Amino acid sequence: RVSALERGGCGRSSNRLARLSDGSRACVRYGINPEQIQGEALSYHLAGVLGMQERLPPMVLALVETRGRQWEPVREELLGSHWAEGAVVSLTRWVDNLTAVVAPAPWGAEAGSGRRLQPLSAGELGGLPPSQLVELVQWSDLILFDYLTANFDRLVSNLFSLQWDPRVMRRATSNLLRAPDGGLVFMDNEAGLVHGYRLLALLRSVCVFREGTARRVAELHRRRSAAAELRRRYRAREPLWAHLGFLSERQAELLQARVDFVHRHIAHCRAQ
Ligand SMILES: Nc1ncnc2c1ncn2[C@@H]1O[C@H](COP(=O)(O)OP(=O)(O)OP(=O)(O)O)[C@@H](O)[C@H]1O
Ligand SMILES: [Mg+2]
Repeated sequence: RVSALERGGCGRSSNRLARLSDGSRACVRYGINPEQIQGEALSYHLAGVLGMQERLPPMVLALVETRGRQWEPVREELLGSHWAEGAVVSLTRWVDNLTAVVAPAPWGAEAGSGRRLQPLSAGELGGLPPSQLVELVQWSDLILFDYLTANFDRLVSNLFSLQWDPRVMRRATSNLLRAPDGGLVFMDNEAGLVHGYRLLALLRSVCVFREGTARRVAELHRRRSAAAELRRRYRAREPLWAHLGFLSERQAELLQARVDFVHRHIAHCRAQ
């Protein structure tokens, strides 16, 4: 049961800090779009599936019911919140004394080398004290988690800002905080899974393709030649190609994987 509902302390103005009848506190997030809360909840449980849920504050959903028992003591505040009746909000258990987190030093120093993080060498890793290794492993969980959920609201937004702020990797990472025990807390996962997958969903919602496009995709799939053809065309038509270099092997593989994904989707549409 919610015994008090206060403004401030929990981010944007539509959020509230709740005091619960058992004495604990929680941040209540209200999504402008229900997909935000859906993304938050699904991401939280995916973290459970991955065995990394301890990195996230415990979360539970609640229904906004002005006349409900759960909200009885804060009916007035609930009306003042302008939350829609029947909306689903998320409650994350309040974590005391959180502090800002800056990306590990080896990455912060990489700001100048383009919009990506550089792998750390075995030598660099070996020289680190255990506490920093523990932290790096938590960062690796974070990166894997944000990759799987396509959450661009943390590292990706920082990497994106590198273009106008070369020092951004040395600033606090958004939606990431540190608990007093040193552990990272993955805060605010609303951009995950649903919002981040929207482009994918957009593709799935399209089942009509231009014949020529479908044919090219099929060829690139069959020949596994997406990157090779791109390289050939780029070199043939762009006199300055050598100044910028090409995709790395890994990026070329990703491009091919996405071509294959689109091809499977088109084949699926054809079969319908
Ligand atoms: N469970 C929590 N425990 C402690 N602090 C919290 C908790 N949830 C949110 N906060 C605080 O509120 C801030 C904003 O939280 P969150 O990112 O979830 O909201 P937001 O609406 O996205 O706001 P912002 O735009 O500031 O990111 C966090 O950076 C943190 O300081
Ligand atoms: Mg946030």
